[in-house]
Amino acid sequence: MPGLFAIKPLSLLTQEAGEEGENTLKRSLSALNLITLGIGAVIGAGIFTLTGQAAALHAGPAVSLSFVLAGLTCAFAGLCYAEFASIIPIAGSAYTYGYATLGELVAWIIGWDLVLEYAFGASTVASGWAGYFNSLLQQLGIVFPPSLTTTTGNVLVKYQGIWLSKSSLPPGVSDVGLEHVTGLFNLLAVIIVLLITTVLVIGIKESANFNSAIVIIKLGIVGIFLAIGGFFLFHHPQVASANWHPFIPPSDGHGNFGLLGIPGAAASIFFAYIGFDAVSTAAQEAKNPQRDMPIGILGSLVVCTILYIAVSLVLTGLVNYKTLNVSAPVALAIDATGVTWGSILVKIGAVFGLATVMLVMLLGQTRVFYSMSKDGLLPKWASAIHPKFRTPWITTIAFGAFAAIMPAFLPIDKLAELVNIGTLLAFTIVSAGVWILRVRHPHMHRPFKTPLVPLVPLLGILSAVYLMTNLALITWIVMIVWLLIGLVIYFTYSRKHSKVQQLPATSGD
Ligand code: ALA
Repeated sequence: MPGLFAIKPLSLLTQEAGEEGENTLKRSLSALNLITLGIGAVIGAGIFTLTGQAAALHAGPAVSLSFVLAGLTCAFAGLCYAEFASIIPIAGSAYTYGYATLGELVAWIIGWDLVLEYAFGASTVASGWAGYFNSLLQQLGIVFPPSLTTTTGNVLVKYQGIWLSKSSLPPGVSDVGLEHVTGLFNLLAVIIVLLITTVLVIGIKESANFNSAIVIIKLGIVGIFLAIGGFFLFHHPQVASANWHPFIPPSDGHGNFGLLGIPGAAASIFFAYIGFDAVSTAAQEAKNPQRDMPIGILGSLVVCTILYIAVSLVLTGLVNYKTLNVSAPVALAIDATGVTWGSILVKIGAVFGLATVMLVMLLGQTRVFYSMSKDGLLPKWASAIHPKFRTPWITTIAFGAFAAIMPAFLPIDKLAELVNIGTLLAFTIVSAGVWILRVRHPHMHRPFKTPLVPLVPLLGILSAVYLMTNLALITWIVMIVWLLIGLVIYFTYSRKHSKVQQLPATSGD
């Protein structure tokens, strides 16, 4: 037996990447589809909600610098993902890259860890989606039973005719005398995840088309926000000047604001960038993966970074950062321009926009499990392809159900931290993997080469680990418990069924 650190030979991976036929995924995605897939996954709950909280609680207007910092972390990792995705265009993403470089045990750990990113990511966004959708319904005068719009046990209060979380009441407003309801479970989140799951089962091309249409709406609405806000600030420079001074508010002595507040906020708004790496999970469905994967990954990252920095500047220019700790900060800021239809438009954008984030996250999750099952590390059902739709339908339905249940009962902030730590761990391993592969196979053909190796992978590792150290202890504990559960499965099932373990001992190529 080759052992725990058995490496999946690159020759086998290349052969698998070239397989065609009925039992394989369908190659139908263009470079543009891949960029829109990336943008579809990236722009979501992060920019529509977390930016306001990060500005209000951690960094003030300097949250735009936090976006630069988190964007750099993603750029280092993105460059490493791009190299791997061009060499090994297989659906498994970081899991497959780990298998080709660091061996089976690490590959398993990373594949299992990606559940934290993708499945929990879809759940987190479903929770944010339910919040926006419910707020939009209420603005339109439609009342959904409030106890079915939030997590179990969360207390809602009726304030100025609107149901909102007790914790979201404006500072200084007491809940005494307000109508209260305790959440049963988040039915809205369940419904949206099940709808998205249905689209995913029906087909990759249909999913990509659905995604592209919505990405256009989403980008349009972010563009309208920037145009309205930018126009207002241009004509009222005194407003911008008052809100941007001081740009870096003085430290509160507890790690918030001041220079230290910038990385603190970066660790939470990092969530806003998650998803560009999900493009790599669609490698087996790309028409020309070696050329288009790097374009999809890096293209979507560049577009989103520019938009995020611009949105955070306009947001903190329009209103004082202290008022931004609300569930719909972008809608609040656009209200400040006096454009009355602005907030409803932003909410519509968020409702559509968050739907595609869930779509790509679930797509990524199912493709990783598909690859793990193909390698024998998971049962065969996880890679069963629907004869008509050519999608991994059983695993899609299974994860759809899993992702639908989580936000029904668990709060969004806890879910989001888990997603951040899971993703940062994946970034660390992928960055290390690129470096290792350069040392082991310096002359192999690389359609895309990460520049400045080992500097870029090293910076990728250091920046990801640095952001991880900014996350709460409980998040670390849950991740470790999750990984331990994964190890039990590996040693009791996967190791015995692994196809690579059946191969003669190999040097990895
Ligand atoms: N980046 C995605 C979002 O912000 C996960 O919703």
